[in-house]
Amino acid sequence: MNETAAVPTAPLRARAEIDLGALRANVRALRARLTGAALMAVVKSDAYGHGAVPCARAALAAGATWLGTATPEEALALRAAGLPGRIMCWLWVPGGPWREAIDADLDVSVSGMWALREVTGAARAAGRTARVQLKADTGLGRNGCQPGDWPELVAEALKAEADGLIKVTGLWSHFACADEPGHPSITAQLDRFREMTAYAEEQGLRPEVRHIANSPATLTLPETHFDLVRTGIAMYGVSPSPELGTPADFGLRPVMTLRASLALVKRVPGGHGISYGHHYTTPGETTLGLVPVGYADGIPRHASGTGPVLIDGKWRTVAGRVAMDQFVVDLGGDEPPAGTDAVLFGPGDAGEPTAEDWAQACGTIAYEIVTRIGARVPRVHLNGEEKG
Ligand SMILES: Cc1ncc(COP(=O)(O)O)c(C=O)c1O
Repeated sequence: MNETAAVPTAPLRARAEIDLGALRANVRALRARLTGAALMAVVKSDAYGHGAVPCARAALAAGATWLGTATPEEALALRAAGLPGRIMCWLWVPGGPWREAIDADLDVSVSGMWALREVTGAARAAGRTARVQLKADTGLGRNGCQPGDWPELVAEALKAEADGLIKVTGLWSHFACADEPGHPSITAQLDRFREMTAYAEEQGLRPEVRHIANSPATLTLPETHFDLVRTGIAMYGVSPSPELGTPADFGLRPVMTLRASLALVKRVPGGHGISYGHHYTTPGETTLGLVPVGYADGIPRHASGTGPVLIDGKWRTVAGRVAMDQFVVDLGGDEPPAGTDAVLFGPGDAGEPTAEDWAQACGTIAYEIVTRIGARVPRVHLNGEEKG
């Protein structure tokens, strides 16, 4: 997990600057959309590549009251780092660290009978009550309990509650197509969620929170907010989908800026093949810039020939293949010195591309662009302290 690094005094090969002030402002902008619902900061996968611990702290400082992770190990690491309050994790496999999760006061998710058996067993051994959230599959078809199996899961959860082994703190689900406005699955999932939560409550469960909204639902579907929203990508200032709008349309600001220092600038003749496979050939005499990041750093190989980079005031394009540690851009005769800043993506207001531009260039989603930035790229956390 990336810890806050000092602001570098010397240029580094590459770095991802993480603007925690922007993250706090994004959390506040998201909370302003809520009427009564609380906000869970989703910080799984090292906070989508932004650094889990500093981002979790910043989100709590801005009023988030829950933290969410996929794996129990991620949640345990947050607790070990001293993060207070409610932390939920939802991606379990048999034999998972239930006992550690109970001891660390995590909220754990249960999608089926095997998980309920494991968590009640661990609670009995610990002599403590586990906080359990039951997950319903309302139509995503991924994790979660199918509607037909829900009565059995609810009945067994009620028994475990009566035995003092668990407390069902939440009922929850996840959308398949909240980023596609008007998709018919949205209302179908909402209807099923209402039915499944109503059934569980009629049977006697008294959850603190019911939740289904991710970022796109939080931004565009207020009827989905219930008691809690789980926001990931929007908190990092990235739009869930270009179809919904830009980050600025929602009052959000991108948190990550990815920069590298040009390692070499050189003049080459026309007809020169560039990088593995020679998929780019210089059309005439030109200058090349060597950008010292590659697919080992999370730069998609699919950016070969397409990825945009701001260098010396102009957008340049990856020339030829992205290699493991480096790629080349055609500088078109310009000769910025080695060491010049190459900005792959950032908020966009200094003319640099955004993560959305990279997603479009690579045929993927901006979630993947920020999350995949590798561990070899130091995260530099800026604006960690609130000013004023
Ligand atoms: C279960 C769950 N909830 C919430 C989120 C956050 O989604 P988003 O980043 O769209 O806000 C995710 C992320 O994929 C998730 O898996």
